[in-house]
Amino acid sequence: MKALLSVHPGGPDTLELHDVPSPQPGPGELRVRVLACAINYPDVLIIEDKYQFKPPRPFAPGAEISGEVDMIGPGVTGWSVGDRLLAVCGHGGLAEQAILRAQDAIPLPAGCDPIAGAALIFTYATTMHGLLDRGHIVAGETLLVLGAAGGIGLSAVEIGKAIGAVVVAAVSSEEKAAAALAAGADRAVVYGRGPFDAKEAKALTEAFKQTVGPDGAHVIYDPVGGDYAEAALRCIAWEGRYLVVGFPAGIPKLPLNLALLKSCDIRGVFWGAFAAREPLQNRKNIETLIAWWKERRIQPRVERLFRLDQGATAIAQLANRSVIGKVVVKVGT
Ligand SMILES: NC(=O)c1ccc[n+]([C@@H]2O[C@H](COP(=O)([O-])OP(=O)(O)OC[C@H]3O[C@@H](n4cnc5c(N)ncnc54)[C@H](OP(=O)(O)O)[C@@H]3O)[C@@H](O)[C@H]2O)c1
Repeated sequence: MKALLSVHPGGPDTLELHDVPSPQPGPGELRVRVLACAINYPDVLIIEDKYQFKPPRPFAPGAEISGEVDMIGPGVTGWSVGDRLLAVCGHGGLAEQAILRAQDAIPLPAGCDPIAGAALIFTYATTMHGLLDRGHIVAGETLLVLGAAGGIGLSAVEIGKAIGAVVVAAVSSEEKAAAALAAGADRAVVYGRGPFDAKEAKALTEAFKQTVGPDGAHVIYDPVGGDYAEAALRCIAWEGRYLVVGFPAGIPKLPLNLALLKSCDIRGVFWGAFAAREPLQNRKNIETLIAWWKERRIQPRVERLFRLDQGATAIAQLANRSVIGKVVVKVGT
């Protein structure tokens, strides 16, 4: 089978397409024929050894897939050859076949698109956990989403609206603002590209304050970091919740007097660790997501499709901040 492999640490141009032997499922595992693999920012990081997890090389990146079961490992029940599924597999998705733990597989509902499905779980389940389990957001609260036209960002716009929040989208271009508004955001603010000097940082704070309104943002969802973080924290509401999700713009340092002044909480969101520690709550969140997807209350926006031999380009486009929504590599559909 073909696999796009990271053979040594580096950017997308270091990935190599190879023919490798078909993997065999071990106890509790499924082998799937990959239908589609969505690209996420962690794919940018994992091939450079900058992610929390560092798989032994060579490995194929690709953290979430849709697929069709083609071999069943010992001890697995409830799955048959030919069943279609969705899964977050961490890595290994940019290949014609992948091995999964059966416990991580989610049935692909009949009639649902495996390409959009491949782009559903990682971002939306992270956001479901972030906004509900960590952010305790409720209907009527104001939610500020940074990077609101990215994969994680658009999922927060949609889930925020599904919950009944007032959603303010913050993005780096008018085109991204239009996408966030089309996904349901109530208002949008366009920011510049950092890093910012003191004057620019102050102007950004004012822009956030103007757009969220006088009461501030009850929940701030930050999958961006960098110089955007402090400016956003300065517009938080009294007893607001600031959710730390990711750092494509860099890991910020925040002055803690801001937490005192607003009596607010700064809360981490680590979906993978939560899913391992609280599998039942994670399952429940995913069941809600699948129901909302079937009802079309949420809908991953797949902007671009690539072939497996173009997987490096797909990762490079995410890395250079040019994507709105998701890019997906169509492997076997
Ligand atoms: N905590 C968790 O459990 C968890 C789970 C999954 C992913 N994540 C993290 O969430 C973050 C977003 O992931 P994603 O898959 O949604 O990525 P994505 O689709 O690329 O979105 C990231 C957004 O960040 C903004 N950005 C600002 N500076 C950037 C830069 N220098 N390079 C690239 N983007 C930049 C961009 O929006 P603008 O141009 O509008 O600013 C971009 O749309 C990543 O850090 C990822 O590792 C965390």
